[in-house]
Amino acid sequence: MCGIVAYKGHRNCHSILLNGLKRLEYRGYDSAGLACLRNDGQLSITKRRGKVKELEEALTDKNCDGIGIAHTRWATHGRPNQVNAHPHADQSRKIVLVHNGIIENYLPIKKFLISKKIKFKSETDTEVLVQLIGYFYNQGKMDFEKAVRAALQRVDGAYGIVIMNTDYPDMMIAARKGSPLALGIKDNEFFIASDISPIIKHTQQILYLKDSEMAVINGNKYTIKSVLKDITMPKNIEQIDYKIDDYDKGKFKYFMHKEIHEQVDTIANTVKGRVKSDAVLLHGLSEYWDEIESADKIYITACGTSWHAGLIGKLLIEKFSNTPVFVEYASEFRYNHTLVDNKTVVIAISQSGETADTLAAIKKANDYGAVTVGICNVPGSSVGRETDCGVYTRCGHEVGVASTKAFTAQIGILYFLALKLASAKGEISKTSLKRHLDYSDAMKKVKTVFRQEKLIEKIAKKYKKATDFLYLGRGMNFPVALEGALKLKEISYIHAEGYPAAEMKHGPIALVDKNMPSVFIVPKDKTYEKIISNIQEIKSRKGKIIIVTDSKNKVLKELANDLIIVPRTNHYLFVVLATIVLQLLAYHIAVSKKLNVDQPRNLAKSVTVE
Ligand code: M6R
Repeated sequence: MCGIVAYKGHRNCHSILLNGLKRLEYRGYDSAGLACLRNDGQLSITKRRGKVKELEEALTDKNCDGIGIAHTRWATHGRPNQVNAHPHADQSRKIVLVHNGIIENYLPIKKFLISKKIKFKSETDTEVLVQLIGYFYNQGKMDFEKAVRAALQRVDGAYGIVIMNTDYPDMMIAARKGSPLALGIKDNEFFIASDISPIIKHTQQILYLKDSEMAVINGNKYTIKSVLKDITMPKNIEQIDYKIDDYDKGKFKYFMHKEIHEQVDTIANTVKGRVKSDAVLLHGLSEYWDEIESADKIYITACGTSWHAGLIGKLLIEKFSNTPVFVEYASEFRYNHTLVDNKTVVIAISQSGETADTLAAIKKANDYGAVTVGICNVPGSSVGRETDCGVYTRCGHEVGVASTKAFTAQIGILYFLALKLASAKGEISKTSLKRHLDYSDAMKKVKTVFRQEKLIEKIAKKYKKATDFLYLGRGMNFPVALEGALKLKEISYIHAEGYPAAEMKHGPIALVDKNMPSVFIVPKDKTYEKIISNIQEIKSRKGKIIIVTDSKNKVLKELANDLIIVPRTNHYLFVVLATIVLQLLAYHIAVSKKLNVDQPRNLAKSVTVE
């Protein structure tokens, strides 16, 4: 799971590749490397453990014009160190490769290559692939392109790769199966990357490689070929009219903090132009609306935070439109026996639009004939391209690894989708629909949540030494509890679990003691009294109680060790307000522990391997 960027042209490679890597750092940041062909024909490879900044400082050899490949890594096979960082070279050090994906049968291939006296330097599956290409090239006496094809035909798993060979100084080959690769074309220059973000400022002419296709760039020409046989494939070039803004932290120390605060505007942006006072528009779904409206059932598939949004979406869609909804992790959906057919709608939710499991789930749904709908934040991303139709969340670039503003935007889209379905199916009265669509007052309340930030910061400091947290909520606030727990885990490294509040007594209550904080999400709704009993159950076992509520009252005040009150609003928007509180709580706990909130250990913004 990594980022690839490559350049072939006449300019110096370093700045193009380094800038590209910085754009791709969201895919992994445990090590980075760059290889280019020096002007004297020698291969120059520089790798560093750590972030792209480390690599940049190490790059002293500026003598690289014309052709180079670079990579930022999130370790799968082999520790995150300099040796395991990409690019990897074959034994002859003529062929060098960067790879995104996993070569699943690397062990038997490695064994075979070792039997042929090939020595390995790293622990990676990637080195096995480049050594196999080298084996066919050097010992099998195949030409470069043939050797690449021969090797790729023998590997199982997923790959997006770019390869160079010092014997072919004017040639670069890229190939893909499973892991996306885009080729940008500009006069006599070529840019290759795992997504278009490093390419788009150079050219808008983009060709997305399809599975089992390879791009062979030779001099100023390029051909698209099949990996499976030596045949030429069509060139489907798209003009992508999409600008990527530079991003900065503004007055904030961390992107995550900025992105939490941006929710004052982003939620409204997501909805702007999509909702009238008496109707939901969602133009992105128009072409397939008849099928969506008449579907027997809906599956929602996603990973992580986006999956939590899916759980909320299920409750909203079922409540408003009476359409059955199943929510599955994309990693499970792709292999499970699912009841998907051409009367099913599959909604895939993804901030990045590049999550490998989500893409595989979409592929499966497409193969089964379902209508696929993407809810995604990144225009031009793979989810946007692979689904039949969809809606962009439009909340701007999300840089912090912990997803925040994308989550609330996803909830916004799902809320309005539920209402649109309900209205189309005659499940909601005009008056009620109008009431739900008048969200302007509710939006103002988002701003007022931030008045509680000082208090939240104080609470964060008080509990920063806790080793475990429970997050408890009911109904739509159960996914909010899951999300609060996930936020805390990923940026503060404190163990946290989200549970339906009543389910807690079926096991997790055993963990409760005087050191353990439980965060209760308590709106004044139909489960209010029930949840009070759940709080009592924890309280009587001396657990610490933090309550997030929209109700100012004596009972809660007495029960809570710490109480955070958000403004009363539309019952459905409470989940957004409560989420923002939990995002701030996790953020301030992590900051008070002096952790890198934007790039937490072991994680990446986008998980592009299975
Ligand atoms: O880009 P996606 O929404 O598809 O990403 C899914 C998850 O990897 C992501 O939500 C992850 O759980 C976040 N780090 C959570 O903050």
